[in-house]
Amino acid sequence: MFTRGLVRIEKPVFRGCEHVIVKHVMMTNPRDTRWRQALNEALVAPMLAGHNTLVPAIAWSHTNSGIALASFRPGDDSVRTCFCKLEDACEAAGLSPEETMAARVHQAGAMVPNMLKALHDLHSSGFIHRDGKADNWVVDAANPLRPLLIDFGLAQRISDGLGATNGYTPTHAPPEHLAALDAAGLLEWRFDRELKRGKTRERGVLPVGGMTELLHKALGPATDIYLLGATLWEVLFPGTMPYIGDLSRHTGERSVLDAILETPGLRFPPGPQPPESVKVRFAP
Ligand SMILES: Nc1ncnc2c1ncn2[C@@H]1O[C@H](COP(=O)(O)OP(=O)(O)O)[C@@H](O)[C@H]1O
Ligand SMILES: [Mg+2]
Repeated sequence: MFTRGLVRIEKPVFRGCEHVIVKHVMMTNPRDTRWRQALNEALVAPMLAGHNTLVPAIAWSHTNSGIALASFRPGDDSVRTCFCKLEDACEAAGLSPEETMAARVHQAGAMVPNMLKALHDLHSSGFIHRDGKADNWVVDAANPLRPLLIDFGLAQRISDGLGATNGYTPTHAPPEHLAALDAAGLLEWRFDRELKRGKTRERGVLPVGGMTELLHKALGPATDIYLLGATLWEVLFPGTMPYIGDLSRHTGERSVLDAILETPGLRFPPGPQPPESVKVRFAP
């Protein structure tokens, strides 16, 4: 049974909230990850309201084929789009690779304090985001150096794991997340491969609370800080990611996840490097 009621919208104090964007997610199978994420987004949204750094859904409605989630649209560009535009501008201006790297560092450096503020607001509200990447930050049209956090499909309450939804972005998957799945034998292909090699490493099992409990135990605010680092890596070293290196070397999710689990440390990619003072922040 579904009843519609009045939706109260608290207008945030950043500009651009006169525009609204609607995300429609189709329901193909109730266990489908994307569908679960859409429901999670509707569930956590009221608990994230009232921050001018976070852009959760402000209203949602069922449709005949799924769910429609509405959010304010503070600007048109995601952080990824901003860096693509920067790349184009550097190329048009004939900048060298070193000068282009300096421009990226300059832009990212101005964005980081605002991104940390958004994560601080989220964590103070008792939630972690778990899906940090350049596509999940949208910049405020009134201040292009002010990214705001969107897409709370994987958001999880710190205290009890409420809202935990299975899923991650493979290229950005935090090592602790994969290690927990692996230890529980949930990365099936790794298990199969080890069996073929004659290894008999004992695998754990899902804890009593299932996936929710596993994610609750394995992840925390530090996961979002890792993901902020991965987001910076993504925009400073386009086409590469921490642990994985050159993305074009990987043909699928398995290869990406194995690389994250098996690479002992970060390797800075070849080519122009950011200043040492920036690199030191990435140090493990
Ligand atoms: N509130 C918003 N304001 C501006 N752009 C948005 C907003 N929400 C989403 N977008 C744009 O749509 C893209 C996909 O939205 P997102 O909520 O991340 O969906 P998905 O669950 O498919 O990742 C984002 O990368 C961004 O470019
Ligand atoms: Mg997204």
